[in-house]
Amino acid sequence: MAALSSTPAPEPLAPPPAQTDPAVDIQDLFGRYRRADRDSIEGVSLAVRKGALLGLLGPNGAGKTTLLNMLCALMRPRAGTIAVHGLRFAQAPDAYKDLIGLAPQSLALYPRLTARENLETFGRLSGLSGVRLRERVAFGLEFAGLQDLSHRRVETYSGGQQRRLNLATTLLPDPPVLVLDEPTVGIDPQSRHAIHENLRALNRAGKTIIYTSHYLDEVEQLCDEIAVLDGGRLIAQGAIGALLARFTGKRIELRFDPRSVEAAADILRTMAGVEDVTIASPQLALVTDDPYRRLPAILKRLAHARIRPLSVAVGARDLEQAFLALTGTQLRDEP
Ligand SMILES: Nc1ncnc2c1ncn2[C@@H]1O[C@H](COP(=O)(O)OP(=O)(O)OP(=O)(O)O)[C@@H](O)[C@H]1O
Ligand SMILES: [Mg+2]
Repeated sequence: MAALSSTPAPEPLAPPPAQTDPAVDIQDLFGRYRRADRDSIEGVSLAVRKGALLGLLGPNGAGKTTLLNMLCALMRPRAGTIAVHGLRFAQAPDAYKDLIGLAPQSLALYPRLTARENLETFGRLSGLSGVRLRERVAFGLEFAGLQDLSHRRVETYSGGQQRRLNLATTLLPDPPVLVLDEPTVGIDPQSRHAIHENLRALNRAGKTIIYTSHYLDEVEQLCDEIAVLDGGRLIAQGAIGALLARFTGKRIELRFDPRSVEAAADILRTMAGVEDVTIASPQLALVTDDPYRRLPAILKRLAHARIRPLSVAVGARDLEQAFLALTGTQLRDEP
């Protein structure tokens, strides 16, 4: 297993592929709150390709919300540039804002209004009217799964129902880029599942989605790429598989019926990319040059010899371990 280290890795994970036409292009961004004596975002460059479903991770206070607020033009960068679909906010503020839908971390709803009234109000604020407004409100209610409760005041809703509605308001004007700041915090697995399904469908339909969460398992399930912020800096960006591979120590552990271990080891020692095989029956560990690339061939070769591993584990078992290895295990809250 990869040793947990409290020293953050300094350089990006793997250079992201060159972006000729990214959805979001952030260059050398710095951001500081008024009266603060240090930057909350320090030199972040991040390109998000069109159609990406990017998980934005980082410990409390890492700067995720600050970065998203600057992306959504709610906070002015101290330095650096942001372009969305090639457009900078200063060039055309209204057109820029039309490109992005933000679901903020703090719920932004009118508690005294019903779900329908909330959606209608937010829809009008974003310039919708007439048939289009009615269509988008109906879509929002369906997205939030609140058709049956649409006439109840939002203050009577559960936390999960409010979260779902908060997210639905973001989608009303149908922007191509969705920025979701912890959209599933405090909600039950069913609501989370429903939100994930909806987001996947939106992503398949072409939306670029930036998704912030503390639930590493959900980011692992939902997103194909991640960016990790820590202390205002981007410390990793790339495919989730690549992040995990970096902390696996190139190691694959397989467990067998004890009668099969020796035969499995003999086979694995002959395989390309396998650097070392050690047996601790019924466990067998091998070191490869690239565990994720080699694993399919390994399993295929074993299956061909009618040997079936009882379990397979690649180094660091999950994103949580990789994340802790990247950002350290210490709490970062300021005094
Ligand atoms: N309004 C503010 N004024 C001054 N400093 C702020 C303000 N909001 C956030 N900060 C500081 O900026 C840094 C980044 O905070 P931010 O809210 O962006 O983190 P985050 O990654 O979204 O954290 P969380 O996971 O807790 O939501 C922190 O050091 C925080 O204390
Ligand atoms: Mg935040």
